[in-house]
Amino acid sequence: MDEMTPVAYRVVGRRAETTDTVTLDLAPHRERLPDYRPGQFTMMYAFGVGEVPLSVAGGSDGTFRHTVRGVGAVTRALHALRDGDLVGLRGPFGTDWGVPAPAGTDLVLVGGGIGTAPLWPVVAHALADRSRYRHVTVLIGARTPADLLYAGSYRRLRRAGLDLQVTVDHADAGWAGRVGVVPGLVDTADFDPRHCLALVCGPEVMMRFTIRALLARGVPPGSIRLSMERTMRCGVGHCGHCQLGPLLLCRDGPVVGYPVAAPLLEVAQL
Ligand SMILES: Cc1cc2nc3c(=O)[nH]c(=O)nc-3n(C[C@H](O)[C@H](O)[C@H](O)COP(=O)(O)OP(=O)(O)OC[C@H]3O[C@@H](n4cnc5c(N)ncnc54)[C@H](O)[C@@H]3O)c2cc1C
Ligand code: FES
Repeated sequence: MDEMTPVAYRVVGRRAETTDTVTLDLAPHRERLPDYRPGQFTMMYAFGVGEVPLSVAGGSDGTFRHTVRGVGAVTRALHALRDGDLVGLRGPFGTDWGVPAPAGTDLVLVGGGIGTAPLWPVVAHALADRSRYRHVTVLIGARTPADLLYAGSYRRLRRAGLDLQVTVDHADAGWAGRVGVVPGLVDTADFDPRHCLALVCGPEVMMRFTIRALLARGVPPGSIRLSMERTMRCGVGHCGHCQLGPLLLCRDGPVVGYPVAAPLLEVAQL
């Protein structure tokens, strides 16, 4: 299979998450792509508009789930898709989160905004293999309650034994939950810093402060991984668009260990 040629996938499910964000379930039209590993991304082509990188948010056996926030021409075209519509898909590409982690590990997943999406396959993995891990802590932040992704699943995940905590930057009248930034949840969450794997994805500033909080709790730098973004074109290490220092993020990322990412987090614009 040519990694530069999109394969046709059909929208078989569409769920609005927020006013500008939708989750799409995609099934192969004919040919199917290889299975993904949690943390990887695909290149999704809106016919006649363009192609963008999107983290895989779920799916199995050749199906893919993606959560898309409409911010520009391509993502708005994807946001407008309806059941039965076709898209082109390439991939999956890039590095993964490294799950399953060793048995007995505590999993700490920290997501901000649309950065929650790439963590969701890890949530599915932890649910399917719950006894493998001691604590599974999921810390989610959003700007407002209306911006929270996957909110309909929170109760089910808590009932299944996940420690899922949510915070918003700005509350509305109906919000009885926590208000504040997501790194604040790290300070009080119940996990063993010496025996955890911490996976972080969100806006740059949120990742910086989350990592600072994880390090302050005593999490070793080598136990922290983050998902990083750069503009991408080819997705397979040919064009150089996604270069960040010595890395091509489509090939050496998007998931990068903190010891490698630390000096790059200082690079302006990230
Ligand atoms: C590895 C990876 C995984 C991603 N996963 C997801 C995902 O699961 N869901 C999702 O909704 N988006 C995801 N993105 C971001 C998505 O690719 C961009 O929003 C998209 O490329 C924007 O294209 P556009 O044509 O719609 O908008 P454009 O017209 O290209 O851009 C519109 C606005 O978005 C900004 N923008 C463009 N690209 C990015 C980017 N990569 N990151 C942040 N801001 C950007 C631009 O500066 C501009 O302000 C991911 C990006 C990468 C690199
Ligand atoms: S997107 Fe082309 S090299 Fe990474």
